[in-house]
Amino acid sequence: MFITFEGIEGSGKSTQAILVEEYLSAKGLKVNLTREPGWGKLGELIRNVLLDDREITLDPFAELCLFCTDRVNHVKGYIKPKLDNGEIVICDRYHDSTLVYQGIGRDNERDLVAAMVMKSCLGVIPDITFLLDLPVNCGLQRIGARKNKTKFDSESVAFHKRVRDGFLELCKQQPQRIKLINADRQVEIIAEEIKSVIDNKIN
Ligand SMILES: Nc1ncnc2c1ncn2[C@@H]1O[C@H](COP(=O)(O)OP(=O)(O)O)[C@@H](O)[C@H]1O
Ligand SMILES: [Mg+2]
Repeated sequence: MFITFEGIEGSGKSTQAILVEEYLSAKGLKVNLTREPGWGKLGELIRNVLLDDREITLDPFAELCLFCTDRVNHVKGYIKPKLDNGEIVICDRYHDSTLVYQGIGRDNERDLVAAMVMKSCLGVIPDITFLLDLPVNCGLQRIGARKNKTKFDSESVAFHKRVRDGFLELCKQQPQRIKLINADRQVEIIAEEIKSVIDNKIN
């Protein structure tokens, strides 16, 4: 089973992904928690360019290409082998983030982004995606104290609003796969809802 977490910065993806990993591991299942961008040596280099190195400003298309390169490397080297082995993979951000950030947040041609993103998945599409949704100002407030802000964390409020709306639009198009979760609640309450969705899927 392949589970992904999506949503704006500060929506609680990393927090909830860890809780799901703990929950499923406690059931005796083999669980692998990973994230994008940044798997493996190539991924780490790409992650640094995409998120951290402020001396490098990328053209929107170049940025899209790097996210797709990172995904191909991640799916081929890690995600697909684990899934083929019958293990669970939880990924903190995956293809929906690229569709939304590079397709709607940035000035790229949407059809081209969609085509490249689908290619980059190598046929590996999540079984369940949790979209953690909350108002942009709440998310930004939560990450306000974060020390290592990424280039995306520092984008404008208007950018983050486009991203939030883009995720909600995706969710409307694929309600079977993408579960909309109200992330403006206590961590434990959100975690309970997520666990019940996963339990339903497993049973
Ligand atoms: N439901 C929640 N309510 C309040 N604060 C939260 C909640 N979930 C996470 N946080 C806090 O908000 C910050 C961002 O959470 P994080 O899981 O890192 O979000 P993301 O990975 O989506 O950017 C962290 O400091 C985290 O402890
Ligand atoms: Mg995170």
